Amino acid sequence: MQEKYFAIAPEKAKELLSQAKEMKPAKRGIDRHAYLIDEYAVLSTNRLKLRNVITRDDDLAYFDEIIETLLHLQQQSVAVVPILGYCFDPDSENGNGYIIQQRAKGEELYDDAVMSKYYAHTFAYLSSNVDAKEYILTRTSFIANAPQQHFDKFIRDIIILGNHNILIDFMGKSNFFYDDIAGFQFIDLDSHTDYRYGLIDHKYDSKEIAVIGGFAPCHFATGTKAFANIALNKKAIKKIGKQKLQQLAQDNQIIFEKCKIAMLHNGITQEQMNHSFETLKIFGC
Ligand SMILES: Nc1ncnc2c1ncn2[C@@H]1O[C@H](COP(=O)(O)OP(=O)(O)OP(=O)(O)O)[C@@H](O)[C@H]1O
Ligand SMILES: [Mg+2]
Repeated sequence: MQEKYFAIAPEKAKELLSQAKEMKPAKRGIDRHAYLIDEYAVLSTNRLKLRNVITRDDDLAYFDEIIETLLHLQQQSVAVVPILGYCFDPDSENGNGYIIQQRAKGEELYDDAVMSKYYAHTFAYLSSNVDAKEYILTRTSFIANAPQQHFDKFIRDIIILGNHNILIDFMGKSNFFYDDIAGFQFIDLDSHTDYRYGLIDHKYDSKEIAVIGGFAPCHFATGTKAFANIALNKKAIKKIGKQKLQQLAQDNQIIFEKCKIAMLHNGITQEQMNHSFETLKIFGC
């Protein structure tokens, strides 16, 4: 195993890794299993040498650069969850190993493992016995009550991350956490944008990213072009029932309004928003 620790003592890292190996994962994503230990998250991966799925990073130079950037951004009060260190088998093809992170505060913005019951597309989440209907209603109402400042900060942070060419995966709502004190936080940041890797010529303006991705706290409607996979499907509408659906739509509208105000506060224009509504349909709006 090759290891590199940036912001954690090697002894502590080794202790966490041996604990994780004895545990069952609390969560899983597409690539990773997450072991949550106190204020740490240990993530197993089979793709440490790949950035954004296809870009090879065999010497992990890009990854190291991201880690340094995230630590720097956290010092600038951007709500990223930094990577503290990693270890991996250098002989494995795509990089089998572990990443140690700070643990995000609060809970997933929306837990995709639960929400996937309502999505058009199902991913490889651990099955969850949480009651999906109860979950979506209470969680949406909780997010609707989040203060405007938290939304403002969320949009601000998306723009800063974009300026640093850090790729945010808006395809999962579990890539964001929300805590009523800490506000919105970003996890699953392990790649740069395609522009940084020379895969595209055009560098997106960060506001162009924020004006689409910044609506992540909202639920999307069937027929949305952007994020079609995570729109609430017809099954969800049927299962939630008319009366509760109205409450959900109302809460979602409140969230939508707060997102829009946050965008205006961060210099995104109404015109830019109107443009994004050509591809983005918000549930109940
Ligand atoms: N730092 C963290 N704090 C708390 N929970 C975490 C943390 N990192 C990951 N998790 C949990 O584990 C889940 C999966 O982690 P993550 O999003 O990093 O992997 P992934 O979705 O498999 O990544 P990829 O998109 O590369 O396949 C998260 O949605 C979250 O529930
Ligand atoms: Mg993820």
